[in-house]
Amino acid sequence: MLAIGSDHGGYEMKEAIIEYLDREKIAYRDFGTFGIESVDYPDIGFEVAKAVSEDKFEKGIIICGTGIGISIAANKVKGVRAALCTNSYMARMAREHNNANVLALGGRVLGIDLALEIVKVFLGASFSGEERHSRRVNKIGIIESDDSNSK
Ligand code: RB5
Repeated sequence: MLAIGSDHGGYEMKEAIIEYLDREKIAYRDFGTFGIESVDYPDIGFEVAKAVSEDKFEKGIIICGTGIGISIAANKVKGVRAALCTNSYMARMAREHNNANVLALGGRVLGIDLALEIVKVFLGASFSGEERHSRRVNKIGIIESDDSNSK
């Protein structure tokens, strides 16, 4: 099951992605926002990230104007590896090498067709599981869990 959410800057793109998910019968939960009124991207990014980190959702898609703010927010949640992608190569690498569990997109950066292509590639790709990639992803987890890294 997929968790999806956006702020107002990503709302239009979120709706287009939801149309695609409906067409493909891909199960999802929409965490909002539900209109074009201004909202704060950390609120939505956190909700989607928490849902993924608690293993309630397998993957997430988050969208703000640039994809930057919402991915920064999501990456503060333990166990979340949110990847901001602007092309399908990045989307494939995010899954195969980084085992990213959240895709971040910029609603004001990409056209809808490209965004849908990125979503397709991200959802279709898997973590390679190769030793060097597992080792690197595990190191991210170690940094994340090490309290001596916090102020
Ligand atoms: C909202 O205007 C905009 O700042 C937000 O969507 C996003 O681009 C932040 O990174």
